[in-house]
Amino acid sequence: MQDNLKHKHKKHGFTGQLGFVMAAAGSAVGVGNLWRFPYLAAKDGGGLFILIYLILTFTFGFTLLTSDIAIGRRTGKNSINAYKEMSPKWKFLGILTFLVPVLIMTYYAVIGGWIVRYIVVYLTGQGQAAAQDSFFTDFITSPGQATLYAVLFMLFTAWIVFNGVEKGIEKYSRILMPVLLVMIVAIAIFALTLKHTDADGVTRTGLQGLAVYLTPNFKGLTLRRLMQILLDAMSQIFFSLSVSMGIMITYGSYIKKDVDVNTSIHQIEVFDTGVALLAGMMIIPSIFVFEGVEGMSAGPGLMFVSLPKVFASMTHLGRAAGLAFFIMAAFAALTSCVSVLETITANCMEIFHTKRKPTTIVLTIIYMIASIVIALGYSTFYIELPLPNGSIGQILDLMDYISNSFMMPFISMLSAILIGWVVGPDWIIEEVEFGGRKFGLRKLYAVMIRYIVPVIMFILFLQSTGILNL
Ligand code: PHE
Repeated sequence: MQDNLKHKHKKHGFTGQLGFVMAAAGSAVGVGNLWRFPYLAAKDGGGLFILIYLILTFTFGFTLLTSDIAIGRRTGKNSINAYKEMSPKWKFLGILTFLVPVLIMTYYAVIGGWIVRYIVVYLTGQGQAAAQDSFFTDFITSPGQATLYAVLFMLFTAWIVFNGVEKGIEKYSRILMPVLLVMIVAIAIFALTLKHTDADGVTRTGLQGLAVYLTPNFKGLTLRRLMQILLDAMSQIFFSLSVSMGIMITYGSYIKKDVDVNTSIHQIEVFDTGVALLAGMMIIPSIFVFEGVEGMSAGPGLMFVSLPKVFASMTHLGRAAGLAFFIMAAFAALTSCVSVLETITANCMEIFHTKRKPTTIVLTIIYMIASIVIALGYSTFYIELPLPNGSIGQILDLMDYISNSFMMPFISMLSAILIGWVVGPDWIIEEVEFGGRKFGLRKLYAVMIRYIVPVIMFILFLQSTGILNL
């Protein structure tokens, strides 16, 4: 308990619990919720995926999020020094963890740029053109356009981080997160009222689409398939909650000692999961209404290729709906991207003893170059790289695969071993209970971190390397 009291407060900190929860939700809610969750749910049998996802969020997601935030607040440091403080021999884990945002930052602004491109599409009334199959591909393969939007998004992000955390992340998240929630609820409700009769005279409604989204589909379910859904859901949780990449450690280091960590964690989980479920409710019934169940298999293209078709079919309302959707998606991506750059900046300031502004400027230049290279990965630097999961990827997919599929399970496994077996679960539990706070799920936490997380993460890691092929 002693070292808790010695904890030095950072100059830049969140103003209180609400500010922290909003900023953490800002990091968690991003393209993972809006784009990745709906397409995985469509691919993995709707209700069944959702059920598994919910169970895993409130067991694994909860354990990993609690660990990250408690480590950050207890040490008051960023990942590299935080792990070193927990056990000097484990400093390497801090460095590994730090590498995840370093890699993610190379491509996140590129995806952010794609979203900004679609805002421009709907602003300038090109909604019909965007509904053509080749529109998205034409855009990402055009070197000039792709780099322009990536750089633009990178500059937005850098500007917020440059101005510092309490003026930056918290201020933006406090406004953007509630606005996002209201917009997504409105579009989701609108999606349920949709109705469309196609050329064959078949009429489909939004409510039927909702049933397709929520009803578990057990048809043809095998053990192998179940394992695959489990693994899909788990990697989605890492990505969606921004855990095991040092981001929540950094944010944890900005919270004051009187904040109730336990309650905050539950609020972040509920917010992140709620937005994901609503995003599914907004996208899946719309796709179903206009394209039937066949539209569901669009995979990763769901948001950029199929959704513009939906907006185009909505006649005059489509332009406003498309604009609202992509503005909202850009907000969500921006707050997530800010959290990645913020974590890298904070770590660099600690390592190199530099000030925020010069650090941000140097990092912005580096990442602007990196974003340009990745954005050109669909034209000038086009490659076709076979990945261990069987898909063929470009540079962006390679970065994504290394950081999310390969490094995150490995880091979570090591971090669970460090907490569960080296420092002991009480090290975390004490921090959550600091100041007499209640930690209702402490027993679940201890069992998860010692036994279940290390084993499952090991399996996931083997699967990601291609060694294990269930
Ligand atoms: N959690 C964010 C999302 O759901 C993505 C993200 C990944 C944010 C990595 C920060 C770091 O989109």
